[in-house]
Amino acid sequence: MSQPFDAAELAANYANKSPQDILKLAFEHFGDDLWLSFSGAEDVVLIDMAWKINKNVKVFSLDTGRLHPETYRFIDQVREHYGISIDILSPETAALEALVKDKGLFSFYKDGHSECCGIRKTAPLRRKLSTVKAWATGQRRDQSPGTRSQVAAVELDAAFSAEGRPLYKFNPLAQMSSEDVWAYIRMLELPYNSLHERGFISIGCEPCTRPVLPNQHEREGRWWWEEATQKECGLHAGNLIAKD
Ligand code: ADX
Ligand code: SF4
Repeated sequence: MSQPFDAAELAANYANKSPQDILKLAFEHFGDDLWLSFSGAEDVVLIDMAWKINKNVKVFSLDTGRLHPETYRFIDQVREHYGISIDILSPETAALEALVKDKGLFSFYKDGHSECCGIRKTAPLRRKLSTVKAWATGQRRDQSPGTRSQVAAVELDAAFSAEGRPLYKFNPLAQMSSEDVWAYIRMLELPYNSLHERGFISIGCEPCTRPVLPNQHEREGRWWWEEATQKECGLHAGNLIAKD
């Protein structure tokens, strides 16, 4: 890091800056220690913007084993399109086999999503983040009025920092709307996940994502059997931690 990093102060200063300015700040401070997390959906915009600033951008995806075939194809299409490598992270075998043996392949419909997400997403993410100083996500405020309305341009990641090892989280798209994102994708003719052509807006794992009806909020297509305020899976657990 080139100089002391005060996330709260920078978040205030960058609240109305462009995603590109936020990405430049992230690269300036963290260089190769900055990793982008890519879900294989409209967050391709984040990769596009970052790649145009730094062709050596580092990217990872969490392969839960339950993504749609279209999403796997799209992740690979993005890898080829930008000529980047994408680290694909898998769940720990023993924990996953124990869960499935004990509760089957669809336990989340009965027990809620946190146990399965914990094994398939959060634990691999924790493993990855323990090796990096900063990460960037495609989170936006408009994605979830319940949990993301306060998402900052940059924050100290309260969920994944460890004692003596602060981890910073950038959310360069925080202020963009869904409309802005899609205008960017169309104008620059970026590749996109073909599920978007079938009514999917927010895309996660196949059993836990469905298309939404006209005028339904995009988040209603995720974990639709659960309470709206709990629709975070552990990746962005900081959003559920009360902030003063
Ligand atoms: S989620 O936590 O509810 O699944 P969402 O789908 O809204 O998240 O995506 C928000 C951001 O979280 C993405 O832009 C990406 O940065 C990160 N993310 C979500 N899912 C994944 C994944 N499978 N792999 C890597 N990053 C992900
Ligand atoms: Fe499991 Fe669903 Fe979470 Fe994917 S979104 S890890 S399938 S509970």
